[in-house]
Amino acid sequence: MSNVNHKFELAARPVGMPKRTDWNYKEEPVRDPGEGEFLVKILYISLDPAMRGWMNEGKSYIAPVGIGEVMRAGALGRVTASKNPKFAVGDHVYGAFGVQEFAISNGAGITKVNAGAIPLPVFLGTLGMPGMTAYFGLLDIGQPKPGQTVVVSGAAGAVGTVVGQIAKIKGCTVVGIAGGAEKCNYIVKDLGFDAAIDYKSEDVRKALQKHCPKGIDVYFDNVGGDILDAALTQLARGARIVICGAISQYCNTTPIKGPSNYLSLLVNRASMKGMVVFDYTDRYAEAGREMAGWMAAGKLKSREHIVEGFETFPDTLLKLFKGENIGKLVLKVA
Ligand SMILES: NC(=O)c1ccc[n+]([C@@H]2O[C@H](COP(=O)([O-])OP(=O)(O)OC[C@H]3O[C@@H](n4cnc5c(N)ncnc54)[C@H](OP(=O)(O)O)[C@@H]3O)[C@@H](O)[C@H]2O)c1
Repeated sequence: MSNVNHKFELAARPVGMPKRTDWNYKEEPVRDPGEGEFLVKILYISLDPAMRGWMNEGKSYIAPVGIGEVMRAGALGRVTASKNPKFAVGDHVYGAFGVQEFAISNGAGITKVNAGAIPLPVFLGTLGMPGMTAYFGLLDIGQPKPGQTVVVSGAAGAVGTVVGQIAKIKGCTVVGIAGGAEKCNYIVKDLGFDAAIDYKSEDVRKALQKHCPKGIDVYFDNVGGDILDAALTQLARGARIVICGAISQYCNTTPIKGPSNYLSLLVNRASMKGMVVFDYTDRYAEAGREMAGWMAAGKLKSREHIVEGFETFPDTLLKLFKGENIGKLVLKVA
């Protein structure tokens, strides 16, 4: 086999934003798959905010990536050689293949993707992990009812775009919070949100009072920090807050800023609950079928922000933290 693999290994635990020196770029020959294994040519790599957390030492819902290990990432590829009867050459597969161009697998934790007419990158976004996060976070934890007001932060991103559209499908009034006019226009004009708040140019607290006069019934939080604190000031009685993520805090060099307005939970008999999408793996197929149906019916749009070039990985990852992506950020390998 004459293939050459390139990969990014974690070289150091970053302080703040990851730097180029936090990575080692390596080249190695690709070995043949052994008995029960198959070789995958990676086509698309999912870039996710959680990757920043996986680079830290310490306890989390998943072990940190070790120094010298290939950076963990979900990825989609095509089987190019196989000694595993369940995976044939030409199959498209999804798994935690990491930030590399080729991977050898024994099939554990790998799913086949039958894309049909749907473009492959959609299976890293709306029909992949971020879409599942939106679906279960909103419907299982948020429990929106028709006529209620749903607010989502990180609204123009992979998770946020899907949360807002599902909330519309469920008959809610939907307000998205995002950075900049382009993102705010997109979620209202293209995705059908009822209103958008540009947190970079507006007073979020005042804007929430304006757009949510009856209060917020469900706040789906992707960003944490000051925006979570502002949302807490405008809760309706019995509100549900879904703690999905806190991207505003991931690259901080100071301790995470917690919400100071939390007593609003008491006053409003509200609840705040964290969710991890991996707890729902048994139900991914069910959610995928329903969301694919919504997509086919034109009720759910998917947008991917695709950057080409494997070697751009260190800079492309930073787009998430600089707000330079709209929709799902995907690295196209070649
Ligand atoms: N709990 C789970 O199981 C689970 C699973 C998947 C994702 N998540 C979480 O869900 C959130 C969204 O993930 P995603 O994949 O959909 O990412 P994304 O929204 O597609 O991309 C990240 C976005 O975050 C926003 N952002 C960055 N820095 C910010 C800041 N300081 N303040 C406010 N917004 C900021 C940027 O948009 P703006 O331009 O609008 O700032 C950026 O485009 C993340 O917190 C992630 O960790 C959780």
